[in-house]
Amino acid sequence: MGRRHMAQSILGPNAQKRHRNHRYTLRENVSSQLHAHVKKSPNEAVNFKKVFEPELFGLSLKQALGKNVEGSIYVEEPGTTLSRNDVFEILVTDVLKGATETDWRDFFPYLRWIPNRNLEMKIQNICFRRKAVMSVLIKEQMKRIASGRERLQEEIQNACGCDKVSEEHLSQLPYLNAVFHETLRKHSPVPVALTKYVDEDTQLGGYYIPAGTQIAVNLYGCNMDKNKWEMPEEWKPERFLEKEKWDPMELQKTMAFGAGKRACAGSLQAMLIVCTTIGRLVQSGD
Ligand code: HEM
Repeated sequence: MGRRHMAQSILGPNAQKRHRNHRYTLRENVSSQLHAHVKKSPNEAVNFKKVFEPELFGLSLKQALGKNVEGSIYVEEPGTTLSRNDVFEILVTDVLKGATETDWRDFFPYLRWIPNRNLEMKIQNICFRRKAVMSVLIKEQMKRIASGRERLQEEIQNACGCDKVSEEHLSQLPYLNAVFHETLRKHSPVPVALTKYVDEDTQLGGYYIPAGTQIAVNLYGCNMDKNKWEMPEEWKPERFLEKEKWDPMELQKTMAFGAGKRACAGSLQAMLIVCTTIGRLVQSGD
C-alpha cells in the first residue's frame, strides 16, 4: 500500500506535474549555490553532496508532506528539539545505516539461536526515532490542512446554511476566494506565459529589448518572488484577506492569469467554476 501510494501520489505522472514547482526551486537553488561558490572560491573543488543533499531532502519533504522542514522541530517523545540536520540523520542516514547493518548470524545459520541484542537495539532505536519524527511532521501537516478546511466549512455554513454553494454566494465567501487565489499563486497551472513577440525596440523594467525578440514571462517566478510576497513558500490564503491591500473582486491578484492586454480572458469563468466546485466539495465533506 505504501509503495502504491508513493508510486502514484508522489512519483506518478500527475503528482510530478503538481510538483514541478518544487523541482524548479531545487534547480534554481542549486544553480545559485554553484554560481556563488565559483564566484567566492573559483579554485576550490565543489562538494556536490553538500549542495544537493539538503535540496533533495527538501524536495522529498515537500512532495511527501507538502512542506519543507525549516529551523527546528520539537519531538514530545523523548522531549527534544531537533535541527533540520538531526531530522535528516533520523529519516535518511540512520535508516540507510540500519539497512546495511550486518547480522553475523546470517553467516552462521546454525548459531541463529544466539541473540544479537546489540543489533536488535540499534534497529529498534532507529525505528523508534523515525516514528517519533514522522508522527510530529504528519501531525503538523494534518493541523495545517484541517485549520484551512475548518475555516472554509465555517464560512460556507454561515453564508449558505443548508443551500448548496452557488455563484450568488461567492461575494459572501472571501476565504474561499482567498483559497482560490493562493492556490493559483503557489501552484500556478501555467508557470510560464505564452511567448510574446516584440514588434519594435522597447524599454521594459530597465531593460532594452530589441525588435524581433521573443519574451517568455516567468509567472511562477513572479508568484514566488520573495521581494513581493512574504514567505512565498507558505500556502497562506489569509494574505489575501487584508481589505486595504486587496480588492476582493480583483481577479489578477497574482500573476497566475498573466497581466495586461493579453491576460487570461477566461479568468472570471475559471474563478466561478473553481470556487463553486471547491465550495461544494467542502460542503459534501470530501
Ligand atoms: C485556473 C484556470 C486558468 C488559468 C490559471 C489560466 C491562465 C492563463 C494564462 C497564464 C494565460 C496567458 C497570459 C499571458 O500570455 O500573459 C491565459 C490566456 C488565455 N486564457 Fe486562461 N487560464 C485559465 C482558465 C481559462 C478559461 C476557463 C478560459 C476560457 C474559457 C481561458 C481563456 C484564455 C484565453 C482566451 C487566453 C488568451 C488571451 C490572450 O492572449 O489575449 N482561460 N490563461
